[in-house]
Amino acid sequence: MSKDKVIIFDTTLRDGEQSPGASLTADGKLEIAHQLARLKADIIEAGFPVSSKGDFDAVKAVAKNIKGPVICGLARCVKNDIDVAYGAVRYAKKPRIHVFLATSKIHMKYKLKKAEDEIVRLAVWGVKYARKYVDDIEFSPEDASRTEREFLYRVVEAAIDAGAKTVNIPDTVGYAIPSEFGSLIRGIRENVPNIDKCVLSVHCHNDLGLGVSNSIAAMQNGARQIECTINGLGERAGNASLEEIVMAVKTRKDIFDLDTRIKTQELYKASQLVSRLTGIIVQPNKAIVGANAFSHEAGIHQDGILKRRATYEILKPSDVGVDKSRLVLGKHSGRHAFKDRLKKLGFRLNEKEINQAFGEFKILADKKKEVFDEDLAAIVEDHVRTITERYHLECLQISSGTNVIPSATIELRFKNKKLKRVSTGDGPVDACYKAIDKVTGIKGKLVSYAIRAITGGRDAQGEVSVRVRAKGREITGRGSSTDIIEASAKAYLNAINRLIYKIGI
Ligand code: KIV
Ligand code: ZN
Repeated sequence: MSKDKVIIFDTTLRDGEQSPGASLTADGKLEIAHQLARLKADIIEAGFPVSSKGDFDAVKAVAKNIKGPVICGLARCVKNDIDVAYGAVRYAKKPRIHVFLATSKIHMKYKLKKAEDEIVRLAVWGVKYARKYVDDIEFSPEDASRTEREFLYRVVEAAIDAGAKTVNIPDTVGYAIPSEFGSLIRGIRENVPNIDKCVLSVHCHNDLGLGVSNSIAAMQNGARQIECTINGLGERAGNASLEEIVMAVKTRKDIFDLDTRIKTQELYKASQLVSRLTGIIVQPNKAIVGANAFSHEAGIHQDGILKRRATYEILKPSDVGVDKSRLVLGKHSGRHAFKDRLKKLGFRLNEKEINQAFGEFKILADKKKEVFDEDLAAIVEDHVRTITERYHLECLQISSGTNVIPSATIELRFKNKKLKRVSTGDGPVDACYKAIDKVTGIKGKLVSYAIRAITGGRDAQGEVSVRVRAKGREITGRGSSTDIIEASAKAYLNAINRLIYKIGI
């Protein structure tokens, strides 16, 4: 008998994009949505269309282009939100509108300034209004885990009566603990008389590091839709991680007697893509997709692995798409092998983009003996799938060393003009950033800086990720090169270009 399916609702493009510093362009969102479709996510929450014109356009592009998953847009119980959400998702074959309204005492009193009866009335109105557009309506009582139980049952029952097909119970502030959250879900199932008319869903934040555990406790108590994100991205400490939930279900079939439709071999690719496009690095010890997830350091462990893998490995790297024996390209590789590899990596490039990427590949292959998949992905993200760059790094010259004041000369291209500035700094990177500030006239404050080697070896490309505060916002940027100062300059400039794109200056 086939197992009961858990629906995977991916909200990387909505809640995930609310991660501090993360911001995605419409193209970036579309690229990730294609990967989510390859991953076979059941539902993609593509954004909050009323929040900005950019987000509206991104949700619309996802709705128009992505086949397979349900495409969902978020809305408050507000007429304009619902109208705009429908305007964006209506192009999808399977559109969903997700309406939400806070139900906890603290939110009702201080944020909404509304009493219980009015909240119930508004929730019913929101669901019914959205139902005029589409059948597939999801309702979320925001901050459900801190809502009075009896009131929560009342709101949920009313929303289902109004036509909600899915009711989602969010632990909005990541406050619940697993036994408590599991009992909340059981309580809803036992006390809401019409609960069988909808899919019961959960959406768990990670403020106490319990997002995945709470989601699993909910699943064990009857939740059949889990809202989650790639790499656990999301507001504040993030959301429950998709890859962790899916692999827990797959690995512990003996406990769950459940299944998902996720093609797990696509998980690693999805994680890498999301990390590159948001500029948020995956911590090395991250479960399932971190760089160390399948590395064994201790001699006793290595010995055990060689004797029998299962002694210390509960997951096969290949099950999540980590392929240690990947094909390596070099400077003698031809266009055909190159094109084929890009396709296998999931990039859908047109001929012009392939030519552009191939040119960059040849330049890199001259500097580096072997070009790995990660290098190819960096080429595509850096040179092909770039946001419209206002400022482009033309040339960089550094003088630095012991007993020398570091200085940098930076030349940027801006609207076909070349602009050059020189600056000194506390180090070569600081000197570069100050010179870039002089050219752009935007003073950025470096909030965080991280560097890692994209692949192994002394000739590896360095990838720099930065978080920059400027014009009252924080924005991430990423850049790669075999020269780490150049990678640093590219990352900073990428953050500035994203800022310009975002605020439209
Ligand atoms: O965390 C939350 O409550 C949300 C809702 C909009 C579902 O993101
Ligand atoms: Zn959330």
